[in-house]
Amino acid sequence: MTIASLIDGKAVAAGVRTNVASAVASLVKKHNYAPTLAVVLVGEDPASQVYVRNKHKFTREAGMRSLEHKLPEDVSEDVVLKLVKSLNADPSVDGILVQLPLPNHINTNRVISEIDPAKDVDGLTEISAGRLSLGRSGLRPCTPVGSVILAKHVLNAQGEDLSGKHCVIVGRSILVGKPAAFLFLEENCTVTIAHSLTKDLASVCRSADILVAAVGRPMMIKGDWIKKGAVVIDVGINRVPNKAKNAKRPTKLVGDVDYKAACEYASAITPVPGGVGPMTIACLLRNTVLAACARRGWDAPKSVL
Ligand code: GUN
Repeated sequence: MTIASLIDGKAVAAGVRTNVASAVASLVKKHNYAPTLAVVLVGEDPASQVYVRNKHKFTREAGMRSLEHKLPEDVSEDVVLKLVKSLNADPSVDGILVQLPLPNHINTNRVISEIDPAKDVDGLTEISAGRLSLGRSGLRPCTPVGSVILAKHVLNAQGEDLSGKHCVIVGRSILVGKPAAFLFLEENCTVTIAHSLTKDLASVCRSADILVAAVGRPMMIKGDWIKKGAVVIDVGINRVPNKAKNAKRPTKLVGDVDYKAACEYASAITPVPGGVGPMTIACLLRNTVLAACARRGWDAPKSVL
């Protein structure tokens, strides 16, 4: 029997984007200024190309300026660093995002470290990560923020909140797992970070009131690893062969959770696609507005706070 309700990330993200657009409109009215997001894409990874295209579309739809810098796969690290430095120095650029993954010959940490923390709308620099870990204000990574918003949204609908809940995060990446742990802690959750080498991962997952799956392995988390009534936030986006009869496409997207089986246990679950994915871009747009205001000493419009 299916009991889980679907957490509609597309609808929640549309609400965040509407709030961003109204914040941008108020900045234009008050300061005659629309924030600018610059995205750097190196190479031709198909998934990254789709993300960058969507970022461009939604940035413009929110009334902001969108700059795209596309560099070839074999570009040198030096050229990427010089581009980041020039975006740092450009006063008309408010937010910088370097799309990951970068090709293997480029040192990702070196490139991220070069981004001006005031423009770090991805929340990945040492300064942003340090501020988050110390509980100070700053720009937060977008996918973890989107995950917290969705968890809060569904718990509110259930007449509950995050405080005191046990949140188990499976995955320890700098993009999702680690920052998500700090963000759920800020919401007064009791947080466990688990990963692919955690002993008896199934029982650890079974102790979660909120289970965040961010391990990057297709359908690794089984239905019976989920406590009855838990909220499941599936951050995984994995492309796998589509074995369905009469499949229209040879591949399909699945999450890190076995969605169908999980529906028998969870009270609510994010689908893949259409769950956390749309939230990432919406939160990126919000960070761009926040960065633009902080850099200029303006109060951020209420709709993005
Ligand atoms: N690639 C996949 N997700 C992300 C993200 O949130 N930020 C960056 N920079 N690259 C990504």
